Amino acid sequence: MRGLKNKGVVITGGSRGIGLATARRFLEEGSRIYFCGLEADEVAQTIQDLSPLGTIQGQVCDVSDEEQAIQFVAAAEEALGGIDILLDNAGIAWEENFLEMTAEHWDKILSVNLRGMFLIAREVSKRMVARASGGAIVLMASKNGLAGEVKYAHYNASKGAIIMLMKTMALELGPHGIRVNALCPGYILTPLAESIDSPEFIAAYVNNIPLGRVGRPEEVAAAYAFLASDDASFMHGTELLLDGGQLAQ
Ligand SMILES: NC(=O)c1ccc[n+]([C@@H]2O[C@H](COP(=O)([O-])OP(=O)(O)OC[C@H]3O[C@@H](n4cnc5c(N)ncnc54)[C@H](O)[C@@H]3O)[C@@H](O)[C@H]2O)c1
Repeated sequence: MRGLKNKGVVITGGSRGIGLATARRFLEEGSRIYFCGLEADEVAQTIQDLSPLGTIQGQVCDVSDEEQAIQFVAAAEEALGGIDILLDNAGIAWEENFLEMTAEHWDKILSVNLRGMFLIAREVSKRMVARASGGAIVLMASKNGLAGEVKYAHYNASKGAIIMLMKTMALELGPHGIRVNALCPGYILTPLAESIDSPEFIAAYVNNIPLGRVGRPEEVAAAYAFLASDDASFMHGTELLLDGGQLAQ
């Protein structure tokens, strides 16, 4: 991709799954990375594993905690000497019937997936505007932000809201030269997906996907790289669906 070399890139949830594959991809593109994850051992392991590929630093941060989010973004700017790209990726999910859904569980999903996404995006955007060098922001939504799925009312609501957050940010930040878009992956095989679904469930699920398989984290990393790159220089305020054709039917 064009325009990623030497860029300062912030990734939330970069220690596992899609975020980890994305950190690897951006290092291969020559970007410099500052990331966070929730678990200290995963953050340390990621730095150890990926450091041979390029410049990568990271820390533990709970994105739903405002103080931690502010501290993380300040540390990222200090380490990178300016943030060019934000990949706002951290998110959680679990299955739960709507009729039994508790307010506590609703709040937990929304606090990480939506409040956390907002807090990090606001802090990075403030710094991008102050620096006046433009930038690119990609928010992680989901195909579940575009179509419903049973047992995921809280998750689906958080992802639908992220798409509207992205569109509003695009309106307000476009005049500052900051592009804002969202990714909508379908089923991607990651530790999150494997924590919810059995191999038998996944084998049956692929019948709903015209390409006949689930996606790989590296395929989402490639879409992140495209949206953040100069190759997507006129893409703004839009969502990119990568779901093996699932929503085409
Ligand atoms: N896997 C899929 O099928 C799929 C599909 C569509 C969208 N997504 C979205 O992609 C993103 C990544 O999902 P994944 O499957 O790689 O998940 P994962 O569980 O494999 O990895 C999640 C990452 O987020 C971090 N994280 C979790 N809670 C956090 C918090 N409060 N603060 C900071 N970091 C936190 C974890 O430490 C980890 O690094 C999520 O937003 C998810 O909703 C996933």
